[in-house]
Amino acid sequence: MIRKFLDLGIQPLANQYLNKPKNLSVKKGQLYNLNVCFNSKTKLVSISKKIPVKKMFNNTYPYKSSMSKTMLASFENLSNEIKKKFKPKLFLEIGSNDGALIKNFNIKNTVCVEPCTNLAKITKKKGYFTYAKYWDYNLSNEIKKKFNSVDVIYAANTLTHIANLREVFKSVCNILSNNGVLIIEDPSLLECIKKTSYDQFYNEHIYVFSALAVKNIINEFGLVLFDIQKISTHGGSLRYFIKRKKNNQIKISNKVSTQIDKEIKYGLDKFSTFVKFGEKTINSKNRLISLLNRLKKQNKIIVGYGATAKATTVLNYCGIDEKIIDFFIDTTPDKINKYMPGKKIPIKKYNKKIYKNVDYFLLGAWNFKKEIFKKEKKFIKKGGKFITHVPKPKIIIS
Ligand code: TMP
Repeated sequence: MIRKFLDLGIQPLANQYLNKPKNLSVKKGQLYNLNVCFNSKTKLVSISKKIPVKKMFNNTYPYKSSMSKTMLASFENLSNEIKKKFKPKLFLEIGSNDGALIKNFNIKNTVCVEPCTNLAKITKKKGYFTYAKYWDYNLSNEIKKKFNSVDVIYAANTLTHIANLREVFKSVCNILSNNGVLIIEDPSLLECIKKTSYDQFYNEHIYVFSALAVKNIINEFGLVLFDIQKISTHGGSLRYFIKRKKNNQIKISNKVSTQIDKEIKYGLDKFSTFVKFGEKTINSKNRLISLLNRLKKQNKIIVGYGATAKATTVLNYCGIDEKIIDFFIDTTPDKINKYMPGKKIPIKKYNKKIYKNVDYFLLGAWNFKKEIFKKEKKFIKKGGKFITHVPKPKIIIS
């Protein structure tokens, strides 16, 4: 049974940064009601409304993985590990974005899949064999014809974006070699629930996975988890290592059962846990609004730091507008001089002059707090402060 536990209100499409703010409409599919549900059979948490993929992933997708040093370092470490442990003759990445990970691999041994043509162009230009297509069964057949099978398939922050998970795994199984490995990494549901980071939910994040749900879903396809790594990216993620059940060459690590036990202990198998999370989310919203209103009454200048998709959920759920946040700053060229989705809050290019009058930065990219605090040492030294809503709304300086 699928039951709703959270209503995050009417939301715009998260990565639709407009050149000019305009009134959006539900009828035209520019706005939708963001509800989050729990499936008591599979234990999968998902949003209820699925936006057509072509509306989300097209030739103007603004997000680039290479924009963050944290992501680049994480990808470099993982690439070294994959090369050492699995020695793939052919490595395929689903959702290769701008090539932040694939650049660590030899061009000859790789295949990229990236439906956003603006991004696919970047890896193509560098010589990587790139399919500018959505990951589906037809594409897996096309890849099978050309390459026969693939030894390692990797997808970071991508499979949660694809509504039809059955087709995702069926397509993986179609081309994964008998001793092949599938590696996926995505934000961890346990971390999301612990941190009340309700902003992990938006139209592109159709699912937030737990190890428990992943185990249940892949079981149908003759796949099993054989290892799990906890990683700090995207506010706390899990990296799942998956193999075919019949592959006896790879042992199953204790880390798999440890993670699943932890999730069950926290109640990720029970609807009541998510109801509580829903209550905490409302609490978080109220506290953030009163904190921001208090600071505005003191005439403080508050600017958003990191025009993230997550920030779009927060702004639109909490009703935070241009009267509270003067503007956002971001380093991503495709977001600069545009407006936060659903809001009249402009996004400006990151530069040090911006600091002159800023009293508080609202951390849109709270998942990069460490990297940002390192960069903003001077701002903090001069008395500048940050506001975060994770794990609860508060002012922070370290
Ligand atoms: P994400 O949380 O969805 O990965 O997006 C991070 C956004 O934050 C991305 O648009 C880049 C931006 N950003 C900055 O503007 N400055 C920074 O120092 C960092 C780390 C990220």
